[in-house]
Amino acid sequence: MKVKVITFLIFSSIVPYIYFPYYISYLSITTNSETRKTSTQSEQCEPDIAPFYIYDLPDRFNMMLVISNCSSVSSWFNICPYLDNRGMGQLFSKSNWYNTYQFTANMLFHARAVNHPCRTYDLSSARIFYIPLYASLFVHWFGNEKNLTQREAVWVDFLNHISRLPTFQRHGSHDHFLVTGLMVWDFIHSPGQKEGELRLNDFLTFPQLANVSILTIERNAYSDAKNQCSIPYPSYFHPQLKSEITMWQDEVHRSERTHLFSFVGGARPPGHIADKYRLAVISQCNRTESCLLVQCKYWGSVWDSGR
Ligand SMILES: *[C@@H]1O[C@H](CO)[C@@H](O)[C@H](O)[C@H]1NC(C)=O
Ligand SMILES: *[C@@H]1O[C@H](CO)[C@@H](O)[C@H](O)[C@H]1NC(C)=O
Ligand SMILES: *[C@@H]1O[C@H](CO)[C@@H](O)[C@H](O)[C@H]1NC(C)=O
Ligand SMILES: *[C@@H]1O[C@H](CO)[C@@H](O)[C@H](O)[C@H]1NC(C)=O
Repeated sequence: MKVKVITFLIFSSIVPYIYFPYYISYLSITTNSETRKTSTQSEQCEPDIAPFYIYDLPDRFNMMLVISNCSSVSSWFNICPYLDNRGMGQLFSKSNWYNTYQFTANMLFHARAVNHPCRTYDLSSARIFYIPLYASLFVHWFGNEKNLTQREAVWVDFLNHISRLPTFQRHGSHDHFLVTGLMVWDFIHSPGQKEGELRLNDFLTFPQLANVSILTIERNAYSDAKNQCSIPYPSYFHPQLKSEITMWQDEVHRSERTHLFSFVGGARPPGHIADKYRLAVISQCNRTESCLLVQCKYWGSVWDSGR
């Protein structure tokens, strides 16, 4: 459970966690203990966090998909309830626990950044520029659009918009970042993919983004792309106060823990890269009395099904 709490903290403490040398002088680099410290969320901007500016993007790049188009965002499930509460999803019966979709990190980050004490409204005093694009929602929506040119029209529109801004050009966009909310492979068209395939697009290979820092779930570990930084998946736990975090930690410490546990992920079809090890662990566990296989597939929604 510790992992969950830490995962949350990394998200909740709002700071743009960027690990590239370029930013080191601007941003605090977070360790677990520092994360706990920043989670007190003082109203003052800490001196080692750079003042950042949030672009007011036209809402067709973010909120429109949430407000007007959520029911058409995904062709394979109704995503709308999961976009509630600015990406936290719907409240479970336990307070501070929400049914959070795994791909709303961009929305969560945005919601937190908006109220961060280091946010500045003054372009000239900003050291970093945050682009609140909800890229993960577009990638879901692509499932409805089979034509690659049509799919990429939204990226072209977005890149035309952003690259015209004087602040984007000023430092060759090195001081800009965005949060994708998805895995890097959802934005890089691999040679094996065919037009019409879900998620096919080349967003991260557009030259306009070459210097923009990309905070993404699962960066490309095989590339030396310096502008990609991995961030954790969101958790279900969204406390508002430091005391709520310590209460949860106390609860975990007090509870009797008699089992070792591990997260495996859902089984994949034969031939899938994750098939070998996930399936091996799942069937090993299933074969012995001493292992309890917990499968969440009865929770009612697609991604709650142990995927
Ligand atoms: C979203 O909704 C707006 C307003 O109804 C519509 O004009 C637009 O085409 C929709 N976009 C998508 C991606 O479905
Ligand atoms: C995809 O869309 C583009 C732009 O609208 C169009 O020119 C092209 O013919 C379309 N391709 C296919 C395969 O339909
Ligand atoms: C990226 O940075 C390089 C070197 O700083 C610069 O030459 C280039 O123009 C920048 N690219 C963009 C798209 O701003
Ligand atoms: C576990 O084993 C049972 C009995 O052999 C089998 O019916 C079931 O499909 C297995 N479940 C998984 C997830 O492998």
